[in-house]
Amino acid sequence: MIVAANFKMHKTRKEVKKYLEELKNIKFNGVKVAIFPPQSALFEDKIIGAQNAYPAINGAYTGEIGLEQLNEFNIKRILIGHSERRHILGETQEFIAKKFEFFKNEGFEIFYCIGEPLEIREKGIEAVIEYLKGQIEGIDLGYEKLIVAYEPVWAIGTGVSAKIEQIKKTHAEIRKFTSKPLLYGGSVKLNNIEEILSIENVDGVLVGSASLDVNVFKEMIEKAAECKISK
Ligand code: 13P
Repeated sequence: MIVAANFKMHKTRKEVKKYLEELKNIKFNGVKVAIFPPQSALFEDKIIGAQNAYPAINGAYTGEIGLEQLNEFNIKRILIGHSERRHILGETQEFIAKKFEFFKNEGFEIFYCIGEPLEIREKGIEAVIEYLKGQIEGIDLGYEKLIVAYEPVWAIGTGVSAKIEQIKKTHAEIRKFTSKPLLYGGSVKLNNIEEILSIENVDGVLVGSASLDVNVFKEMIEKAAECKISK
């Protein structure tokens, strides 16, 4: 079971440091935990991953960080393809695939995100699968250090997660393309995490807003540990 936290553009370096210290007080009981803080709050800690990086060692890429900066913190985990980078920052599939290839060649563990917007979901599951296929174009789904996160755009930050049946069907379809761990993300909260983790083909969760409170996140890890035993 995997429980990952994407802080997005929340928390300062000082706050992340305190968060990590508080997390040290609990046992993960076999749950794999990953934290993606903002770039200014990266730490040398194997729990940490980068929310983003440019696919180059270094260079003239104003505002970006690259491999050299990640190496400074010994970071070997990265989030690629998040819907906010696709839709707000304008990353194309071609660029995302290039980024994937670069960090794959560097041996990074890659949390690769896919997910459809509402207008596609409204057209039905076939349209959703077609859309998701476009988001895996150029991606090596057999990469040994790959973790796929299905995050429907309409469920992110809305407080309304996808319905159990929708997650079940979509994950079953994604499973046809990869044997790697599949996470669900999009309004995962304390009150729905157990139900979500009990769905077939759900190997963990990627949590945004609810992860910002360390006590809530700790409870989520505990619940995931219990699910792991019963699954
Ligand atoms: P929320 O949990 O806030 O919906 O965010 C999900 C997400 O985008 C994680 O990457």
